[in-house]
Amino acid sequence: MTDDRDLLAYLDFHVAAGVDAALDEAPHDRFAESASRGRPASESRPAPESRPAPEPRPAAEPVPAPAAAPRPPARASTFGRSAAAEPGEAAGDARELARTAATLEELEQLLARFESCPLRFTAKNLVFADGEPTARVMFVGEAPGADEDRVGKPFMGRSGQLLDRMMAAIGLDRTNAYVGNVVPWRPPGNRNPTPQEIATCKPFIERQIALADPDILVCLGGVATQTLAATKDGILKSRGRWFPYRTERREIRLLATLHPAYLLRQPLQKRLAWRDFRVLRAALDARA
Ligand code: URA
Repeated sequence: MTDDRDLLAYLDFHVAAGVDAALDEAPHDRFAESASRGRPASESRPAPESRPAPEPRPAAEPVPAPAAAPRPPARASTFGRSAAAEPGEAAGDARELARTAATLEELEQLLARFESCPLRFTAKNLVFADGEPTARVMFVGEAPGADEDRVGKPFMGRSGQLLDRMMAAIGLDRTNAYVGNVVPWRPPGNRNPTPQEIATCKPFIERQIALADPDILVCLGGVATQTLAATKDGILKSRGRWFPYRTERREIRLLATLHPAYLLRQPLQKRLAWRDFRVLRAALDARA
């Protein structure tokens, strides 16, 4: 006989496992559904429910989609091969698709229909970007959390508020800076994105950077830095360092710094981030 305590324990178990949001009103037995149709459950998943003046800089030439870029498969209104894709295949799908986007708007639309990253099925919203896409500086975080997932924009929660204060300290805000994430969907329960999820999403953030074409890329934390800078060093070693970053258009500069979520846990380390932000301000001023 199930009583309230059993139900609460059952809910606690799911929350501890990272299942903290209901995707639908009623439960589905995917095993039974797929058995009756004779194909994997992942293939029968329903589609999920589905910026004032920048720091001035010369208008950027559009980044052309490479002439030989294959168009996305015309077979459906979604792209990719659903959550069952092999790791290499999913990243391959992403690479092929990302290069077909000629604008940031197109890239966001492609991502919204990309099905090879399983995170999209547990996230409420795609979290593509916030801020001014023509800005000279772009910040890249790791992956959205619950607040970002709810709002559909990066850095909306406590770490976002800290990021906003850090940016404000050097005269930046979301009208003169652009903000994105390596992974645009929330990993359930705020777990770290897996290497496979990062590899699948990497072509999209690379294309997003190329299309936004900032002068300076600021990587917030180890995941963004290790994904985009040519380093395997931990963030406490790489922070404050400049790395060259090659887009499809040109070489720009990448600055590694600490993630605001880490600074919330380790407030004494804010002095290191403050040093990095002053270096960033000086670099922007030097090439104003
Ligand atoms: N942490 C990130 O890395 N990105 C967000 O958008 C929010 C929190």
